[in-house]
Amino acid sequence: MKVSVKTPATIANLGCGFDSFGLALPLYNIITVEETVLPGSGIEINIINEKNNEDNDLADVSTDKNNIVYKAIETLYNFIGQIPNELKITIKTQIPIGRGLGSSSSVIVGGLIAANELLGRPADEKVLMSIATELEGHPDNITPAFIGGVTMASWEEDGSVIYRKLPWNDEWKLMVCVPDYELNTEISRSVLPKEIPMKDAIFNLKRTAMFVDALYNKDEELLKASLKDKLHQPYREKLVPGLADIMNNLKHTKGVIGTVLCGAGPSVLVVYNGTNVSEIKEVVANSWNYFNVKCNFMNLPVEKEGAVIL
Ligand code: HSE
Repeated sequence: MKVSVKTPATIANLGCGFDSFGLALPLYNIITVEETVLPGSGIEINIINEKNNEDNDLADVSTDKNNIVYKAIETLYNFIGQIPNELKITIKTQIPIGRGLGSSSSVIVGGLIAANELLGRPADEKVLMSIATELEGHPDNITPAFIGGVTMASWEEDGSVIYRKLPWNDEWKLMVCVPDYELNTEISRSVLPKEIPMKDAIFNLKRTAMFVDALYNKDEELLKASLKDKLHQPYREKLVPGLADIMNNLKHTKGVIGTVLCGAGPSVLVVYNGTNVSEIKEVVANSWNYFNVKCNFMNLPVEKEGAVIL
């Protein structure tokens, strides 16, 4: 038996909602898990770059039992007291790796859902969400990969995840600006302080409330005020040369509602009202060009659907 699952790319944080908000994008990984018939054939893992994703460097991605998809599947098997023996795992990727677009969440979620199907659905969505978050560490990526749309998520002390889907006004467009280099999430987290000033916590607290209200009421002015952050982006600027310039230069560019770092970076998300596309691209390209960074632009809607079994 074999099961294939398609899971979307994601953008975490969305400015003010560090480790909390996220959204899904219509770029996908397809994970196929197959129980092989020949006993003793072991674990086989194949990773294939899909078209338009040739830049992905797969050389460092392990294809043995250290592979993150295998680990996710193994965790689920262990959860029901079993050990995976003969499995063939195929990962077809459209999602750029190491760019803040949730590639690892996407494959973990896909692998878990596929294995859950193979095993006769021993785990429900909440359990799978909790296992995936435990493995990946960031519910703000796992949640939109799982359920799609714009989401809020909180990883609770007992290991469970509280999560909800939020509405999104499709008149607000996304421009995802992907630079030509990778940034490791662990490195990007290592520059964050252990403690932050109370005034910065209050700054973000107010903005997360604004963000949710803006989404429910399609309030562009409030969304604009909310897409700001003092908890992570300022500290990560040194790892993303050009980020501060892009954000400053886009502050007064017509059509722009807000500019945020995608997850732990280095990609940048511009939320805009659908107008002035070429000027926005030019501002981003010129700011990065100064630092010798080239980038790809993707104009994408929010993907409303999460992981699907094909
Ligand atoms: N919220 C996490 C971070 C996402 O910003 O570090 C990591 O992909």
